[in-house]
Amino acid sequence: MTIAALSDLLTDAREHRYAVGYFEAWDVYSLEAVVAAAEAEQSPVIIGIGGLTANHAWLREQGIAVYGAVAAMLAERAKTPTAVMYNEADSLDEARSALGCGFNTVMMVGQGMTMERLIETTAALVAEAHAARVAVEGEFDELGEMRDGVLHDEEARLTDVDAAVEFVRRTNVDCLAVSVGSVHFVTGGYTPTLHTSRIRELADALTVPLVLHGGSGVPPEQLQAAVQAGISKVNVGTRLKQVFGEGLALGLQRASADPNLTYGSRLPGDAMTAAALALTQEIRRYMQTLGSSGKAANK
Ligand code: 13P
Repeated sequence: MTIAALSDLLTDAREHRYAVGYFEAWDVYSLEAVVAAAEAEQSPVIIGIGGLTANHAWLREQGIAVYGAVAAMLAERAKTPTAVMYNEADSLDEARSALGCGFNTVMMVGQGMTMERLIETTAALVAEAHAARVAVEGEFDELGEMRDGVLHDEEARLTDVDAAVEFVRRTNVDCLAVSVGSVHFVTGGYTPTLHTSRIRELADALTVPLVLHGGSGVPPEQLQAAVQAGISKVNVGTRLKQVFGEGLALGLQRASADPNLTYGSRLPGDAMTAAALALTQEIRRYMQTLGSSGKAANK
């Protein structure tokens, strides 16, 4: 199957009130686990790498090129519509470097930038990316973050509707990540409250699909309410690593003493295979929650 265009995935999701998941991977196992979940659920999906917590020096040196190629190949081979995203580049240059590497969607964060600078930079990225037939996700307003169990939300603001409309008009982004109460990197012990009425206002006012970051910490019923209010793409990261880690720990307890059968054999009983299977199950649950299961045939 050819790599799916982000706009095709999100237009259908918006029209039929479900959300497509971007499940952030970090290696070949996690990329494959996302594709396996999508095929099992007959769901469209967005695969990719990047993220605020990744080592951006490594990404620039080789991660973007190597994993862009791998992700693109997996998306082409996938049996369900799959887009390929480079997420949360830490600069315009880094986002640019992902163009031509296999990703058909890129996103850049503007931490610390003034609004005017963010608009100019995002618009410049959109012009270059669109010329290369790559979609751009814009981000308007930062989320709060959990770090070592402590909430940091001093910079977090609820996205203003008029300002978001202006941002989209001036940048021409293909979809927009908004700040509506979710928090990045939640691992438990804190439950964010999403502002569904603000999501509804944003969805009514904006011409582009809305994206929710920080999907790990949001309980299923709140995710569903957000989707019904107008969120068309949900990003999930932290929870996937948590599940993979737990699966690996369990797999290591049960594994044979032979390292060849424990790491990378792809045989049943291999600890890494067990972790990837646990990851696939968790992603399938997210797809069911977001309503994307069974929607592959819509494309
Ligand atoms: P979480 O790690 O909180 O799920 O956030 C993921 C994300 O938004 C990546 O862009």
